[in-house]
Amino acid sequence: MCGIVAVVGSREAAPLLLEGLRHLEYRGYDSAGLATVHSLVSEDQGQLTCLRAKGKLINLAAMIDQNGAPGNLGIGHTRWATHGKPEECNAHPHRDSSGCIAVVQNGIIENHRALRETLEAAGVEFLSETDTEVIPHLIAKELHLLKLEGLPVCEAMLLTAVQRVLPKLKGAYALAVLWVETPSALVVARRQAPLLIGLGEGEFLCASDTPALASFARTILPMEDGEVALLTPLGIELYNQKGDRQKRSPSLLSGVNHVADKRNFRHFMLKEIHEQPETAELWVTRHLPEGLPADAPVALPFDDSFYFGIERIEILACGTSRHAALVGAYLLEQFAGIPTAVFYASEFRYAAPPLAPNTLTIGLTQSGETADTLAALAMDAERRENHGDSAFAPRQLGVTNRPESSLARQVPNILDIGAGLEVGVAATKTFLGQLFAFYGLSLNFAARRGTRSKEEIFSITQELRSVPNQLRSLVKMHDKLSEELAHKFADTKDVIFLGRGINYPIALEGALKLKEISYIHAEGYPAGEMKHGPIALLDPKVPVVSIAMPGVVFEKVLSNAQEAKARDAQLIGVAPEGPDTNLFDYLLPVPKVSEWISPLFSVVPMQLLSYHIAAHRGLDVDQPRNLAKSVTVE
Ligand code: G6P
Repeated sequence: MCGIVAVVGSREAAPLLLEGLRHLEYRGYDSAGLATVHSLVSEDQGQLTCLRAKGKLINLAAMIDQNGAPGNLGIGHTRWATHGKPEECNAHPHRDSSGCIAVVQNGIIENHRALRETLEAAGVEFLSETDTEVIPHLIAKELHLLKLEGLPVCEAMLLTAVQRVLPKLKGAYALAVLWVETPSALVVARRQAPLLIGLGEGEFLCASDTPALASFARTILPMEDGEVALLTPLGIELYNQKGDRQKRSPSLLSGVNHVADKRNFRHFMLKEIHEQPETAELWVTRHLPEGLPADAPVALPFDDSFYFGIERIEILACGTSRHAALVGAYLLEQFAGIPTAVFYASEFRYAAPPLAPNTLTIGLTQSGETADTLAALAMDAERRENHGDSAFAPRQLGVTNRPESSLARQVPNILDIGAGLEVGVAATKTFLGQLFAFYGLSLNFAARRGTRSKEEIFSITQELRSVPNQLRSLVKMHDKLSEELAHKFADTKDVIFLGRGINYPIALEGALKLKEISYIHAEGYPAGEMKHGPIALLDPKVPVVSIAMPGVVFEKVLSNAQEAKARDAQLIGVAPEGPDTNLFDYLLPVPKVSEWISPLFSVVPMQLLSYHIAAHRGLDVDQPRNLAKSVTVE
């Protein structure tokens, strides 16, 4: 899993590869590497330089500065370790035994063990624990056979060798291959992992995602599943799985915001938390203009047919997106009256519920690149298409912060949350953007179905309009309060987060944020469930963060907090100030708003508390260990 980038053209490849990889670090940062081929005028073939460094891209950049990586042809990789530890030996590119072929790959070759055994039996020595390393060895074998068949060394020879290897690989891959004997040729291929060709000025590129291409290419050609392409300075040859030449027009590459600016903040995450009032403001301006009809109180880019006849909603998501989905499900069910279920995308792929008719399937992924979410959506579309009855036909919506992502190429309807570039691995403003998307959908569904009165709908839209300003003061206040509190809890080993109803997912999100960036063990629980197990963990050293927002479960949550207090736990309350909330040892006050919109506020202290604890511990907040912003393997 990982990000790949490749280029062939007329200028030095290394700086371009580095710049491309910088935009792919969200796919992993365990190690990075590149290979370039420098054409030697005196000889037919080139000279291959391969540099790999454990850790972040900055280490690779230093290595390039020191050693140089000349050549106009190159491939690069940033890794999130799957097979083999994040050591230099497992970093990509991987080479064949002669060191003449180099390969970078994103994905997992599922039959790599069997392939490796066969190759080892034939005398091949492996230098890494990766699944990828089988690929250069297999290509080398095919090239050898092609030479024996009498074919002259040419670019088509490398293409043919790769085409012969691909059917032997099981699993998902996006890969780029170069060979010293063809110093102007790059072969790229994809199956179930994204890969886009970029058309630059005097060069052709290829990358896992558009931001890596945005500085160099004006147009792109997304590769389709099973395709393989030969890229040379003269052009592109694209072939489908059967080997038939494909002709498609490239599309304009637009709307990719790839400028990451920390402004004056210490970390991207803190900046992104502070940008949330802006995220809210943008959403309100775009989607809640005055004068909308009563049956469509929120301006969304869908016509009547989108809403018509939906009887059930299924939401597929991972990580923080799944927590936003749980809030969304609460709104869609409790406010709009539509039965809604949320699934871990990785579970849904292999244990989907029986097909229900007239179902809207929502894929929720801020990056639009999470492999499990994309695959779960594809699986669901396929089983619905195969059903035959039109009531079961796929109706899919993608909700994302990246309207130009793989998700957008896969599903017919896209809702752009418009939160702007998010760099911190821990999602913050995109979570808020996802919540807003669900307010929009729930209000429109409720209005159309008549499940809520006009007055109720009006009152929520009015409340949503005032969120940006309220968030402005909230973020400022909590930045200070959380920093103070962080000093007290920075050495804590375990924290319990409690919430109920619409704020139960916020307790889950609070626990996830803390785990992700501070490496402190945390559990999120529905407050009423604490007495069935987690209460046994409580003692004076285990703080309990309790989200108590006025509404149907307010008193219940306060009682659950009392139960924790009776076991000497230190209580941190996320609740409005008032006599009811005096029981908390520390109060992180939030405004008294309607319960429906309360998650938009209760999540802010969760984010800031985690941030300040991690920052206080001196951790790498923006790129925490072992994580990636988007997980692009299964
Ligand atoms: C990774 C990230 C999480 C994120 C999840 C889903 O695990 O570390 O922060 O929530 O992927 O990402 P997505 O892009 O699908 O929302």
